[in-house]
Amino acid sequence: MAKLLSLEKVSVKFGGLVALNEIDLSVNSGEIVALIGPNGAGKTTLFNLLTGVYKPTSGTIHYMGQNITKLEPFDRARLGIARTFQNTRLIKNMTVLENVLVAHPDCNSESILGSLFLFGKGRRRRDAIARECIDLLEVVGLHRKLDEWAGNLPYGEQRLLEIARAMATGCKVLLLDEPAAGMNGPEKKQLADKIGYLSRNFNLDMVLIEHDMGLIMNIADKIVVLDHGHKIAEGPPEEIQQNPKVISAYLGGEDDDFDGE
Ligand SMILES: Nc1ncnc2c1ncn2[C@@H]1O[C@H](COP(=O)(O)OP(=O)(O)O)[C@@H](O)[C@H]1O
Ligand SMILES: [Mg+2]
Repeated sequence: MAKLLSLEKVSVKFGGLVALNEIDLSVNSGEIVALIGPNGAGKTTLFNLLTGVYKPTSGTIHYMGQNITKLEPFDRARLGIARTFQNTRLIKNMTVLENVLVAHPDCNSESILGSLFLFGKGRRRRDAIARECIDLLEVVGLHRKLDEWAGNLPYGEQRLLEIARAMATGCKVLLLDEPAAGMNGPEKKQLADKIGYLSRNFNLDMVLIEHDMGLIMNIADKIVVLDHGHKIAEGPPEEIQQNPKVISAYLGGEDDDFDGE
């Protein structure tokens, strides 16, 4: 498998606090990687590193063979690295379709308004962009809700809309920060199915932070476990599930939530 994204001995310090300590990590093409660990382990910091919001104190980050350690978030997004947030960042008083349109790189809110007056070629381009966005909404299963206010969607669908928005940016790697947070059982199942589907059919590589072990065990190819800024384990789900270090650090040795519900 080709290496897509890699961290080599990456550390992040906030003053005296070592949020990440010499982390090595690689994401191969076609892989779904799950990042787990207790609160404060450094998971969100790692995402911020991948998107360029934080720069490492030391170490390097490569993406498709390019050293991106010093690249700004905008440039990384252009290379195809996109993320969703732990709390949704939808524009609640815009429709579902508008939310995806404004995320499209060839389209912003100004040009949507401007495009009302377009004719000929400009209009065809506008229609093509709208078609692309509707297709993406179909992929995540929201094509029947194009005109609904984003803020009125049930929580699970808001997360799916966020994924469609990230995909509209043309991303190759999708970073999902706790995508199942706040979801009920059926919504989680729907999300897991969609994540698997996107990975298989859209060549999207995914890194997700998630607490729901049932979900992770089902969809992740590889699990990386962080604890207090250290990587304490890495491997396929069935191996991680048995790892005594993981069981004691992540679960305090007594939490029986590990195998799912
Ligand atoms: N911008 C920041 N400034 C100072 N400390 C931070 C900052 N971001 C995160 N931290 C600290 O880094 C550690 C890891 O945080 P975080 O990555 O959010 O953990 P997780 O997402 O695994 O819960 C925590 O101790 C947190 O308080
Ligand atoms: Mg976090």
